[in-house]
Amino acid sequence: MLYSEKVMEHFANPHNVGEIENADGIGEVGNEKCGDIMKMYLKINAGIIEDVKFKTFGCGAAIATSSIATDMIKGKSVEEALKLSNKAVVEALEGLPPAKIHCSVLAEQAVKTAIADYYTKQGIDPLPIVGEIPEHCHGDCGND
Ligand code: FES
Repeated sequence: MLYSEKVMEHFANPHNVGEIENADGIGEVGNEKCGDIMKMYLKINAGIIEDVKFKTFGCGAAIATSSIATDMIKGKSVEEALKLSNKAVVEALEGLPPAKIHCSVLAEQAVKTAIADYYTKQGIDPLPIVGEIPEHCHGDCGND
């Protein structure tokens, strides 16, 4: 299996690892098949993601995708962060092997789940804003 340099970089030296105390939103997602778990913490102020940290108990690609996903949403508005797709994560990592696409789906789900938790904590129903959080990656990861 061949990983891009970007993946190796983020795997060897992941950004934004850790926890945030009193986070405004926390999202935990897992993939049943591989058993990997990703937990994401958001600090949100006036609709802007001021800080984001993650903990991933999973494969190298899951660590690399969480690392780059946190980089991509840090400093962004919640609305912008919601637009983060697993495809954008894969592109930012200069590609992932097909068997590892589902790892990037986990990163997208973790961000969305943490944002949904943020809305719930604000007393806002997240469903109309965040939508259903997709559990599958539409057939291209062998995970459906
Ligand atoms: Fe499942 Fe990477 S092998 S998240």
